Amino acid sequence: MKLAPSILAADFARLGEQVAEAERAGADRIHVDVMDGHFVPNISMGPVIVQSLRPVTRLPLETHLMISDPDAYLEAFVEAGSDALLVHWEGNNNLHRTVQRVKALGKRVGVVINPATPAAALEEILPDVDQVLVMTVNPGFGHQHFLETTLPKIRRVREMVDRIKPGCDVEVDGGIDTTTAPLAASAGANVLVAGSSVFGDRDGVTAAMNRLRAAVEKVVN
Ligand code: DX5
Ligand code: ZN
Repeated sequence: MKLAPSILAADFARLGEQVAEAERAGADRIHVDVMDGHFVPNISMGPVIVQSLRPVTRLPLETHLMISDPDAYLEAFVEAGSDALLVHWEGNNNLHRTVQRVKALGKRVGVVINPATPAAALEEILPDVDQVLVMTVNPGFGHQHFLETTLPKIRRVREMVDRIKPGCDVEVDGGIDTTTAPLAASAGANVLVAGSSVFGDRDGVTAAMNRLRAAVEKVVN
């Protein structure tokens, strides 16, 4: 099980420190949520944040693009230091082309599906991607409740990945905490994105990550 702390919930005044702490606590990658106020009703961060974090951590920086025109920004994020670009299925009329562009830039690529998008939307693009991300909340904000209706979909995505693209990560994003992480893990997720449950825990990042790991170990092992 891999953990991808989402810096959306971090203290931006201490971002470098918080990412370093997540790295020391065994994070596998850092999840960067990019929002444009158009694709989702919220504005967050851009390539400059990735650029600032690049010298601070050796962890892969995966960039979740919740923006209307991802193609226009792929190069900028790669130049800033992103290692993986996650692009949404929704609203992209030429998803295959976007995916090929990311691959041509030499980076890992993932496709993201929103709660109302069926697992089957991933089938034809699956051979071309390194990871899929199943949104377990509606994208746009942290601190939302995990939608349990996504669990059967996670199972369907896992089944499809094992059949078509073994080795492709099945990642979940939104409302992941010690209660919901085991549910997502037993449905077949192998990467957990977690924002507020990691950076919002009053006992700190390390304690929060240890608790998340302990919660999933019970179901994974
Ligand atoms: C939601 C973002 C998530 C968010 C998760 O639009 O894609 O990555 O940061 O935050 P929590 O873990 O607080 O739900
Ligand atoms: Zn995200």
